[in-house]
Amino acid sequence: MIKLHDKYFKPFISAKQIDDALQRLAIEIADDLGDETPVFVGVLNGAFMVVSDFVKKYPKPCEVTFIKLASYEGFKSTEDVQRLIGLTQDLSGRTVVILEDIIDTGNTLAEIHRIFKNENAKALKIATLFYKPEAYKKDFKLHYVGIEIPNKFIVGFGLDYNGLGRNLPEVYQIKETQHMTNLVLFGPPGAGKGTQANFLKEKYNLVHISTGDVFRFNIKNKTPLGMLAKSFIDKGELVPDQVTIDMLNAEVEKNADANGFIFDGFPRTNAQADSLDTLLTSKDSQINAMIALEVEDETLVKRLLERGKTSGRADDADESIIRNRVKEYYSKTAILKDYYANQGKYFGVDGVGSIEDITVRLSAVIDNL
Ligand code: IMP
Ligand code: MG
Repeated sequence: MIKLHDKYFKPFISAKQIDDALQRLAIEIADDLGDETPVFVGVLNGAFMVVSDFVKKYPKPCEVTFIKLASYEGFKSTEDVQRLIGLTQDLSGRTVVILEDIIDTGNTLAEIHRIFKNENAKALKIATLFYKPEAYKKDFKLHYVGIEIPNKFIVGFGLDYNGLGRNLPEVYQIKETQHMTNLVLFGPPGAGKGTQANFLKEKYNLVHISTGDVFRFNIKNKTPLGMLAKSFIDKGELVPDQVTIDMLNAEVEKNADANGFIFDGFPRTNAQADSLDTLLTSKDSQINAMIALEVEDETLVKRLLERGKTSGRADDADESIIRNRVKEYYSKTAILKDYYANQGKYFGVDGVGSIEDITVRLSAVIDNL
């Protein structure tokens, strides 16, 4: 992963793949042009690397020149293509091959066609290393395409993000989500998870996703996923993981600009942890840490009995029920502790002390990630 200005990019196309594509283009074009000596016209700035590498592979005599156009601001193509350096040589009667680094909307290409309209070239061919078919809005024929790519912003091999990245020998793609800190928060009943989640989400600008809350919200608002979940609950069956994952996916997408998420109540099984990894990978992200609040049983029992005096929750009133809930927590979550420990992502934090002290301990873990 690399960072240019404020954005993160991930490796996308290797130097080898680029080299192979340019090699193919060189052979294809040389075959097509026969004995013709073409004039290759590179479009600056982006095409400087393409031209340099391409012409070295071109197996026959050729001429090389450049024009300089500019249309991009940040990572949006604009309609307004500026002609910074035009043609400086007579191309009448010549076979001209435009060499582009990338064709996106085709606005630049339209300007190129305008430039060549009155040049009386014998033929005008378009060759581009990269092409984004989903973004292309014009009808001009593209004669030679190196690699088709999805409509996502890329940098490297001549392409830049606000000036940076042109020198990279390989190509990187913008990350779906930018840098996130994703936590799985764990702790037995009474450990103070809810309290701490509230502090952490404020401090780190994270979104707290409690699966219980997400379920209740979806069911109450009768969303399609909520209705589906309810149909299982009503039959007394467990909601299938995929339904829960789909709900979490919707939550993550709703908050795509977040600094990260605190997952609370999920995952509970290895299969769920795998699904969560898959979900986050699809967003170019990951779980950074499982943080577990560690509180020994006797303290939990005392705390919950204390809470039961005022909370009115029946399951907080009975000592044997409390002990069972705690026991169940450990028997169910021990596996997950291993799951994340194996990835070096498990962090146990002492959950006994003042609320502030515990927040400080949790923050120390997060600040170190
Ligand atoms: P078009 O005019 O929209 O076809 O875009 C062509 C120009 O926009 C290219 O020559 C690049 O300078 C720039 N461009 C388009 N897509 C990208 C990208 O993904 N990364 C960096 N520059 C791009
Ligand atoms: Mg360009």
